Amino acid sequence: MHPNDRSRLTFKIRYAARHPQRIVPHARRLARDTVLRLKNRDHVSYYRAVMKSDTARSDEAAVGSLTHDSWLKLGQMQFDYLVSHGLKPGMRMLEIGCGNLRAGRLFIDYLNVGDYYGLDISPDILLAAQRTLAEAGLQDKLPHLTLVQDLKLAFLPVEHFDVVHAHSVFSHSPIEVIEECLAHIGRVMKPDGFFDFTFDRTEGAEHHVLREDFYYRTETLVALAGRYGLAGRFMTDWEELPHKQSKLRVTRQAELRYIAFTDSNRKDRHGRDERGPGEPAGPGESGEPAGPGESGEPAGPGEGGEPAGPGESGKRGESGGPGKSRGIGGRRGSVR
Ligand SMILES: C[S@@+](CC[C@H](N)C(=O)[O-])C[C@H]1O[C@@H](n2cnc3c(N)ncnc32)[C@H](O)[C@@H]1O
Repeated sequence: MHPNDRSRLTFKIRYAARHPQRIVPHARRLARDTVLRLKNRDHVSYYRAVMKSDTARSDEAAVGSLTHDSWLKLGQMQFDYLVSHGLKPGMRMLEIGCGNLRAGRLFIDYLNVGDYYGLDISPDILLAAQRTLAEAGLQDKLPHLTLVQDLKLAFLPVEHFDVVHAHSVFSHSPIEVIEECLAHIGRVMKPDGFFDFTFDRTEGAEHHVLREDFYYRTETLVALAGRYGLAGRFMTDWEELPHKQSKLRVTRQAELRYIAFTDSNRKDRHGRDERGPGEPAGPGESGEPAGPGESGEPAGPGEGGEPAGPGESGKRGESGGPGKSRGIGGRRGSVR
């Protein structure tokens, strides 16, 4: 097991000794999450309840920003990165886990009327998103803001989106949620579209903390994307930014670009069934090899985060903890 696996008892003890002030908030969060988990057996219901509890205190903290200034900065960072990596007016964008439009408000402003589509599992954060929209005076842009129960995306049209974006969503998702998304995202993406998502990266054992924060190896996610005809590319220059998660871009593989999905009933133009989660991989599905920059120690736990405690990833925190070494670029501070 990796020494920085946050779910390990020794890691928690070492962490608690270094950050004694975080023990009580962590214990509180542990108690709350235990109750919510007992009441909500499936992950989506559980996480929806977590978001309800968090938004009752603060919309911005619920998406991970402890101050308004950091909420603005992290939205801007996502926006600037995507604009410098292919997003253009005239494109149609799907944002999975749009939250309270921390970045969404900038995308909505930048894109043409009706071209932004935000999804979330949390009704509470979608109400907060409407408030953000009104405060920003963006009503005329008529974005779509939609509540979902899963990521099958069955209600969305075929090959509609140029860009799909999910920031700090898979970092809170068990592998079956990510797989469901990857299994279906290709259907709604244009053949030359792309899907950028962040994830909490580990080089050690994959693990989770309180079923709120999930740590994956890059190769796991690239291989999973490959099973659904998607090629994964590690975004090395994202590592230079002050954010503790890493970013992958997935695209539909060239050999699949000529297969037009004709309906949402798992048939392609040739009448073949699409594969679903867990079905065997076909040819050419290994995906591009993950790029460099995947080495390095994962971010420290609970850094700068609200109720962060031993074993936590600092989900709610903006400021990176000291001494992080994240491989390429020597990433230091982090913003979530
Ligand atoms: C940390 S917040 C980030 C929000 C937004 N992407 C941002 O950067 O401001 C994570 C968001 O993803 C949503 N979420 C979590 N799991 C999801 C899922 N399986 N499908 C859709 N949304 C999800 C949460 O409700 C929450 O609004």
